[in-house]
Amino acid sequence: MTARIYCFANQKGGVAKTTTVVNLAAYLAAAGRRVLVVDTDPQSNATTSLGVNPRELNASLYDVLVEQMPIQQVLTVTDQLGLDLAPATTDLAGAELELARHMARERLLARALKPITDQYHYILIDEPPSLGLLTINGLTAATHGVVIPVQCEYLALEGLSLLLETIQQVREVLNDRLVIAGVVLTMYDSRTNLSQQVVQEVRQFFPNEVFQTIIPRNIRLSEAPSHGQTILSYAPGSPGALAYQALAHEFLTRQEEPQQR
Ligand SMILES: Nc1ncnc2c1ncn2[C@@H]1O[C@H](COP(=O)(O)OP(=O)(O)O)[C@@H](O)[C@H]1O
Ligand SMILES: [Mg+2]
Repeated sequence: MTARIYCFANQKGGVAKTTTVVNLAAYLAAAGRRVLVVDTDPQSNATTSLGVNPRELNASLYDVLVEQMPIQQVLTVTDQLGLDLAPATTDLAGAELELARHMARERLLARALKPITDQYHYILIDEPPSLGLLTINGLTAATHGVVIPVQCEYLALEGLSLLLETIQQVREVLNDRLVIAGVVLTMYDSRTNLSQQVVQEVRQFFPNEVFQTIIPRNIRLSEAPSHGQTILSYAPGSPGALAYQALAHEFLTRQEEPQQR
């Protein structure tokens, strides 16, 4: 196998990048795929959400990107069978500056992942809320595209043109395979007209990219990370769990049978 690599990007914080990465990853693993989550955010939310304490780590993605440590040395297993993690620590906050001094500084993550692509079906990269060098590294490493989570709230599309410009630049200069693999609508509240308006707006803006599956606002999804669990183990019957399970199925259909699009 050769891993399909996706990055999950939106420079807006709090739009459910991390929630989408860890829960989609859990359901892809539950569907029998070998999955790696790569946490590139210094806030380490994906790492803690998967039950790993960044303070107890001897090495993390920082060492891989800045010190060229082989990535195999930082991979950890998670409670979910088939789901591994390349964890982040707060060290990464300083990495942007240190990376700037490296040759081919935009390709460090792509290079680091090469030796392990035959070990996974899917590699999902969780990006920080910025368009800095860490995010550029994720976009450059993504062989099968970028997934953009969009929160169903006022001004949902604001800032997206800057993200799209960045994607276009990366495509031209660093990664000509970079496509938009999908747009995920998150934190949908069926009680508000606003949520429904945003869905319409985003579908108009991205006529082919938006996933049918919409992730509802669900308290269980926000509780699971503090227990170090994915929604699949924390509350598998909750609306949030069912939504991410449906998203995983839609994702697999789209990605593994692309002729159906
Ligand atoms: N569908 C949802 N329902 C309720 N809370 C959510 C949902 N998705 C995400 N959250 C919560 O919203 C906050 C931001 O989500 P997060 O995934 O960390 O966003 P990002 O990675 O884009 O910054 C977190 O506290 C998370 O638990
Ligand atoms: Mg995050």
